[in-house]
Order: sequence, then structure tokens, then C-alpha cells
Amino acid sequence: MSEFIKAAVIGHPISHSKSPIIHNHWIEKYALNGSYEAIDIHPDNLSAELDKLIAQGYSGFNFTLPHKELVLPYCDELEQIAEVIGAVNCLSVKDGKKIGSNTDSYGFLANLTHQKQGIDFQGGAALVIGAGGAARAIVSALMSTRMPRIYVTNRTFEKAQKLADELNMFTDLIVPVAWDKKDQVLDQCTLIVNTTSLGMDGQPDLEIDFGRLSKGALVNDIVYAPLQTKFLKDAQASGFETVTGIGMLLYQAQQAFRKWFHVNPEVDEELTQKVLAQI
Ligand code: ATR
Repeated sequence: MSEFIKAAVIGHPISHSKSPIIHNHWIEKYALNGSYEAIDIHPDNLSAELDKLIAQGYSGFNFTLPHKELVLPYCDELEQIAEVIGAVNCLSVKDGKKIGSNTDSYGFLANLTHQKQGIDFQGGAALVIGAGGAARAIVSALMSTRMPRIYVTNRTFEKAQKLADELNMFTDLIVPVAWDKKDQVLDQCTLIVNTTSLGMDGQPDLEIDFGRLSKGALVNDIVYAPLQTKFLKDAQASGFETVTGIGMLLYQAQQAFRKWFHVNPEVDEELTQKVLAQI
């Protein structure tokens, strides 16, 4: 029998995490010898508790709030994408070495390309709304598609400016836009992505002027609770195609699962419905 693989998602709090449903679905589906749990670790004890789990044989971890940045110095090595994003959501222990990665960029892009076959990234600009960790992952992913321009707008402009300064390096692809000026770039955009918490259950909605958005643009929200945010409903009412946030969650998990279990698990309708039923 193959070696038993122990994996877990670490957060504080953690009970809301959908990751155990996703990974256990795949462990069962592919009859793998392994487990995936949700473990609550207080940020003050992160490295000591991780040491204990690794000593108990855990070799794969996901991280959610508030650990994604705190875990950076714990890693022995960082994959380039984690370094660029400045956050680790996936850690693999290999030959005793703790390797930090980030699967959010993959999750974002895999979802978009699956939902919209033949998507043309090079035909116009993107507007990324927000400048937090998720926005950094998404901007990094969009840079790899050779999109000609990526506008980033954020309530706190300085964070959009910082993101652009840090990720642009030798390019000027990323252009920060003031929060109250975001409608002014919509006529150039073929893709808009909400990466903020606006529109989440209990949060205010995100409002933009869809009347100014370029015809045929694709509108993506990474919020998945609710699945159909007001932002997406407004986009649909104005005739735009939309992509919901659930896919990014599933595809970021797919890449992590592949790293630990060496199986490429399928993101299908059955899994999507299983996760949505818990939201
Ligand atoms: P994540 O890792 O999910 O990106 P984050 O790093 O906490 O989370 O980022 C949250 C994003 O949502 C930020 O862009 C934040 O804007 P600020 O940088 O100005 O805080 C944005 N956000 C949260 N609440 C918001 C609100 N009420 N209005 C506008 N933007 C909001």
C-alpha cells in the first residue's frame, strides 16, 4: 500500500472553510490513501504547532486567514509565485524541506479559461478591483496572459500604487486608478474582476457603471457567498457574461491536491454542487 498522506487547512477561525469538503471528495473519488482536516491554530503558535504536525507526519497544508503572510518566514523555500504574491496558501513538506507556494493565480486563470473557452486576454484591458492578497495573485496571473494593460483600483489608493510598483518591475502594464475614477476606464476593459469583500454576505455591494463598460466584456467576482452577487446580477442585467467565484476556490484546490497526492483531480459539476450546498 502507498504511503498515507496527511494534509490540512490551517486558519483561525477555520470552521467556515470549504477546503475539507473539496479535498475529501477527491480522496474518496480516487480511492487515495490519505486525509485532509481543518485545524484551528492561533497565529501566536503557528510555527510551533506546524512543527508538531509535521512531526506527526503531515506533509501538505493550506493556509487561510490570518496565516497566508505569517507563514512566509516558516518556509525553507518559496516558489517564485508565492514570493511575487507575498503570501503562501499551500505548503508541501518534501524530504524534510518546507516549500511554500501559492495556487490562487492558477485557480483564477484555470477557472476563467474553463468557464470561457477561447477567452482572448490580449484584446483589451482588465480592471482589477481591490489591492489585497487576492488581487496580487490575480494581477500576477493576468500578467502571464500578456494582457496589454491591467488597471488596479482600490479604496485605499496607496495600496493600488504599491501593488503596481512592486509587480510592474520592468514593465508599465499595471496602472493604478483612484477609487472614484474607476468608471472612467471601463470603456477600455474586456475583463473586470472584483477581488474585494464587497458583495459578500453582510457587506455592502460593489457598484460600477455597467453602461460605460466595453461591449462583450467578461465580469468575474471572486466572492462566492452569495454566488450571484449584486455586482454580477447588475452585469447580467446590462447584458454582460459573468463568471462566479466558486471556480477559483475549486481550481486553487486542484493545484494543491496535485502537489500532495500526485493526481490531477477533476473539478466537475458534482463537486461544485456539493460545495455550493454548504454555502
Ligand atoms: P484578500 O486576501 O482576500 O485580498 P485583503 O488583503 O484583506 O483580503 O484585501 C481586502 C480588499 O477588499 C482590499 O482591497 C480592501 O480595500 P482597502 O485596501 O482599502 O482596505 C477591500 N475592501 C474591503 N472592504 C471594503 C469596502 N467597504 N469598500 C471598498 N473596498 C473594500
